[in-house]
Amino acid sequence: MTDLYAVFGNPIAHSKSPAIHAAFAAATGQPLRYEARLAPIDGFTQAIADFVAAGGKGANITVPFKEEAFRLSSRLSERAARAGAVNTLAFKAGEILGDNTDGAGLVGDLTRNLNCPLTGQRILLLGAGGAARGVIAPLLAGKPAALFIANRSADKAVALAHGFADLATVEAGSFADTAGRRFDLVINATSASLAGASLALPPGLFAGDSLAYDMMYGKGETPFLSQAREQGATRCADGLGMLVEQAAEAFLVWRGVRPETGRVLADLRRTLAA
Ligand SMILES: NC(=O)c1ccc[n+]([C@@H]2O[C@H](COP(=O)([O-])OP(=O)(O)OC[C@H]3O[C@@H](n4cnc5c(N)ncnc54)[C@H](OP(=O)(O)O)[C@@H]3O)[C@@H](O)[C@H]2O)c1
Repeated sequence: MTDLYAVFGNPIAHSKSPAIHAAFAAATGQPLRYEARLAPIDGFTQAIADFVAAGGKGANITVPFKEEAFRLSSRLSERAARAGAVNTLAFKAGEILGDNTDGAGLVGDLTRNLNCPLTGQRILLLGAGGAARGVIAPLLAGKPAALFIANRSADKAVALAHGFADLATVEAGSFADTAGRRFDLVINATSASLAGASLALPPGLFAGDSLAYDMMYGKGETPFLSQAREQGATRCADGLGMLVEQAAEAFLVWRGVRPETGRVLADLRRTLAA
């Protein structure tokens, strides 16, 4: 029997998740169908209820519904509870299980695809929104030498760091507060690149052989990666790998099988560049 899955968001037409999961299903021989569903801004809960009633087995959740999915879940994984947001739902025996695979996706992309181990690294995380919050605990689990969260609104970064103080010492402040520091890995988790805006970063942040990582992706170099290269980053990567890796983690949650990601990522990269 073919099981039904979907990604819910608003907007959703741009989503690459159906293509990614179709490729995973073909590669693993898992009998499933995966669709993109537009949920009304004020109708997410009903859209999920209708989907479950129609036999839906699981869902990915994207902007702007991740916090609502968190509240809708009857049970949360530890990583979803930490993230305060849910990007993966599984419907089982009347329960709604909420998970968050974004952090595992980022760490998987960094360590497996980009050969960037986290242990001993000095990491700068830019942004203090949902995406930043979801990746902090998985980054800390990699035992970096330091993690600094910098945000346009410094108070949000400080509050975020405070929420993870039981795991490790996390520093926080404004972009200007990073002046004089050097980092091996700088991750952009702001949405500034979406608006084509560059960030007010002090010069000299990028250590030799550092990696600049933008969670955003698109055709060509993102504004943050152009800025990072100009400011001395020697390696640059966008968030397409994170997207594919978080999808593979969700597939594992639903089907108990983790698909190979290399071919899917390469195909997606080619399509995006065309
Ligand atoms: N590749 C993937 O799989 C993946 C997964 C999840 C998210 N993402 C990407 O991650 C990014 C952030 O998403 P989110 O859900 O965290 O968004 P969000 O909750 O709305 O947070 C937005 C963040 O960006 C900052 N920001 C916005 N415009 C800015 C500007 N012009 N200059 C400086 N800072 C600015 C905000 O700072 P203030 O607090 O000062 O407003 C805030 O920290 C998006 O680009 C999203 O597409 C990618």
